Amino acid sequence: MAMWHKIVMFLYLLSIRMTVMATGQAKKNILFLIADDAGFETPVYGNTVCQTPNLDRLAAQSVVFDNAFTSVSSCSPSRAALLTGLPSHQNGMYGLHHSVHHFNSFDGVVSLPALVQQHGVRTGIIGKKHVGPSSVYPFDFSYTEEDGHSILQVGRNITHIKELVGRFLATTPRSQPWFLYVGFHDPHRCGHTHPELGQFCERFGADGGIPDWTPVWYSPDSVEVPYNVQDTPAARADIAAQYTTVSRLDQGTYYFLLFTVEQLPGVGLVLAELERFGLTDSTLVVYTSDNGAPFPGGRTNLYEAGVAEPLLLSVPGVGGRRQASPVSLLDLVPTALDWLGISYPHYHLNNRTAAVTLTGRSLLSLAQKGTELLCWGQK
Ligand SMILES: *[C@@H]1O[C@H](CO)[C@@H](O)[C@H](O)[C@H]1NC(C)=O
Ligand SMILES: *[C@@H]1O[C@H](CO)[C@@H](O)[C@H](O)[C@H]1NC(C)=O
Repeated sequence: MAMWHKIVMFLYLLSIRMTVMATGQAKKNILFLIADDAGFETPVYGNTVCQTPNLDRLAAQSVVFDNAFTSVSSCSPSRAALLTGLPSHQNGMYGLHHSVHHFNSFDGVVSLPALVQQHGVRTGIIGKKHVGPSSVYPFDFSYTEEDGHSILQVGRNITHIKELVGRFLATTPRSQPWFLYVGFHDPHRCGHTHPELGQFCERFGADGGIPDWTPVWYSPDSVEVPYNVQDTPAARADIAAQYTTVSRLDQGTYYFLLFTVEQLPGVGLVLAELERFGLTDSTLVVYTSDNGAPFPGGRTNLYEAGVAEPLLLSVPGVGGRRQASPVSLLDLVPTALDWLGISYPHYHLNNRTAAVTLTGRSLLSLAQKGTELLCWGQK
């Protein structure tokens, strides 16, 4: 870790300690780590080939959901639902946001970043946004493709992402709680936009151009072909490339482990300081993906491979374990609001007489109390 970066972290942590001393309790923060088209290419979900040591560590201290689902298997609609807690027909984002697709959420929707901002939480987004209009999804600190930044840099260059996170933290007043949304662009396909970088952009920065990334290469013979994919040499080559970009995503999450993991060998000073200043006790961390992996029957399909998602929820003070209850990414807004102690506002959309209500539920009590199985419709 670069010296300047250690200094930024140290100053930030020092300010946290002073805040904790002044208020007697840690402020509450939220970190969303959203992968792009990631499936279950990780030992966390039983893949024995694709190595993700950092996600494994995050999982070891998270509630790992074995039955988490997105409400819609496509990028913008899934992200809009995740950020509003409202399904597509209610938030208005029925299709892709960019270019000719031109979908947007309804102007009157109150999204998570807009709502927490009103309650004094500093909001940041780094990487892929792909939702709009910007008035519905405002962030105080924003480095995304919607702001004209290269999606490769803000979404796949983990060194650049790390620097932006440092900047977000360094510019957040020490007493202010924050919500940071990191939209990795890995492991999305990129053969259609950057064929010179490989089918999954696995060659982007693989020559040392991304200092924080040590690429992991896989032989097509060794990969695990999901049940929904035909076992052909072409599919195996694709999966091997996909795994390599999963390694970039995984090593990107390493940096964020600093917010959560209490005992991580080799991190040294910074981690010790985090523990001492109590930051590990203050940040709720979510890792998930927008939709299934981009293979037949996956992304954009309503089969399991299209809608089932990895979901790790790291709640300070709650140990790691697995949770079989079926949950939805629509539950993340209620979870975040529960964590921050903010209630959902009373308002109406598009002149409808019924007020807008969230259909999802906070996962905090499920995480904290460890209810074993919650069934559909059970209160
Ligand atoms: C990644 O970001 C770092 C830091 O901003 C930069 O120095 C490097 O050139 C970038 N790598 C690539 C491949 O663009
Ligand atoms: C809501 O009602 C107002 C007043 O009648 C009208 O001007 C507006 O267009 C309506 N909005 C929608 C979305 O129907």
